[in-house]
Amino acid sequence: MYQFDVSAGSKAELYRDLLAAIDAITTGEADGVANMANVASLLWQYLPDLNWAGFYRNVEGELVLGPFMGKAACIRIPFGKGVCGTAAQSRKTQLVEDVHAFPGHIACDAASRSELVVPVVSGDRVVGVIDLDSPNPGRFDQEDAVGIEAIAKLLTDRVNS
Ligand code: SME
Repeated sequence: MYQFDVSAGSKAELYRDLLAAIDAITTGEADGVANMANVASLLWQYLPDLNWAGFYRNVEGELVLGPFMGKAACIRIPFGKGVCGTAAQSRKTQLVEDVHAFPGHIACDAASRSELVVPVVSGDRVVGVIDLDSPNPGRFDQEDAVGIEAIAKLLTDRVNS
């Protein structure tokens, strides 16, 4: 059993402790699927107000569903499509306060109202994306983006599969 000391204080403290927990559980483990599974679980456990948390992986130029927590989701997303495909193609974080206002948003879970997608980039290759969905409009802010970007950077060489 793993036990992590993740602060319920400020958002900055939460992401600092979450990053430390993710570092501890993924360091030295070469299996990318195992690492993604544990990270999806930690994101789900410690970030409030989510209805989906997980990964899409770049498999031969297409995003394919990876380990996640939440309802069963779309399996394949082309680069450039939806919020995830836009993050993968642009290699830029997508912070969407209202998914209904995002052209081409792919509704995997009708409950989703806001979304944060951060690409995981290794060298010049997009390895995949981290996707967080919330039933609350405007759930994610710049601090969430910075926090998840730090996690994506840490995972660069730990989620290859
Ligand atoms: N909403 C995403 C699809 C993935 S699900 O949210 C899990 C998108 O538009 O890319």
